Amino acid sequence: MKIGVAREIKSDEYRVALTPAGARELVQRGHEVTVESGAGEGSAFADAQYAAVGAALAPVDDVWAGSDLVLKVKEPLPEEYPRLREGQILFTYLHLAASKELTDALVASGATCVAYETVETAGGALPLLAPMSEIAGRLAAQAGAYFLEKPLGGRGLLLGGVAGVAPGRVLVIGGGIVGYNAAVIAIGLGASVTILERSIDRMRHLDEILSGRVSLVMSSTLQIEESVRDADVVIGAVLIPGAKAPKLITRPMLAEMKHGSVFCDVAIDQGGCAETSKPTTHTDPVYVVDGVTHYCVANMPGAVPITSTKALTNATLPYVESIASNGLTEAVALDPGLAPGVNVLGGKVTYQAVAEAHGLEYTPLYEVLA
Ligand SMILES: NC(=O)c1ccc[n+]([C@@H]2O[C@H](COP(=O)([O-])OP(=O)(O)OC[C@H]3O[C@@H](n4cnc5c(N)ncnc54)[C@H](O)[C@@H]3O)[C@@H](O)[C@H]2O)c1
Repeated sequence: MKIGVAREIKSDEYRVALTPAGARELVQRGHEVTVESGAGEGSAFADAQYAAVGAALAPVDDVWAGSDLVLKVKEPLPEEYPRLREGQILFTYLHLAASKELTDALVASGATCVAYETVETAGGALPLLAPMSEIAGRLAAQAGAYFLEKPLGGRGLLLGGVAGVAPGRVLVIGGGIVGYNAAVIAIGLGASVTILERSIDRMRHLDEILSGRVSLVMSSTLQIEESVRDADVVIGAVLIPGAKAPKLITRPMLAEMKHGSVFCDVAIDQGGCAETSKPTTHTDPVYVVDGVTHYCVANMPGAVPITSTKALTNATLPYVESIASNGLTEAVALDPGLAPGVNVLGGKVTYQAVAEAHGLEYTPLYEVLA
């Protein structure tokens, strides 16, 4: 198959959809890989590294026009819509429920659009979303430690403490992928860590894998109220699949927090879990409400593109290999978890939640897949 890797044009997006290592795997299997010149620069991959493994370098027009399968990281922007064509496969993050305009453009293009975020494992997990949650969780603990420093407006507390001085307290609300990874780094920094969860099974699992190094407590409004008051860093990591994040931290609760404490709301991409949360960017990541530093960056993995690119492509490559080697129909037959990834095919919306979000007709994938 002819596989194209387009450069990301969204502002502050430095990731690329394929590493030179991934390009080599595909070339080795007999595929033709064309990478847009400069596509890997933001992730520290030079054009020469792609050329060295047998990929071609080309300008943007040639990458889109000459590829059967186009790999990207972010959804296409309006200037990219006309580049899509019937029969072409686009594999990228799409988040279509959030944009009618983009959904209409993809439907009109006739292309097959496969979204990373809705591909599933046999157990219903989201394997192409998970690596970004791992990164965001780990970054959240780092951001918490950093913004506790006095010159940055923090309390002036070293999260790990030292011999004879107690460590800081980190409260993680939600013990899923983000929460677990935040806890691992906070423990590593020497902090005293509490995770509030509402799934008992998940808490049992966390207890096992964290070997008792964190306090695991059932989440409730009263518990959140009490725990938030004592914490130096609070990390919001809840998710209710398919819904906006619940507003678990109210303004009065926040006002009870210590002056100079830090609140990292990782769940901000789902609306945030505090009444005071609003999205920020890497260029201006924090703001202060009632003396509490809020870090609410909506695309946290964007800060570490070298790590994010590798983590993302480690997860996507097996799917790319399967689509390229088998064709989409066969790839879906071999791995039914790929089917929910197909959001739009041949002018039809094939993912029910997206169709419902925009009042469009839903066509089950198996009705349109050749
Ligand atoms: N800001 C970013 O850059 C970024 C990056 C990746 C993920 N995220 C977001 O982080 C959030 C968490 O993602 P995840 O992958 O860890 O999800 P996940 O499904 O793995 O974990 C969410 C956890 O929250 C728990 N939960 C739900 N309601 C709760 C409550 N009331 N109290 C305590 N726990 C509760 C669930 O039981 C689950 O264990 C999501 O909103 C996700 O979109 C943000």
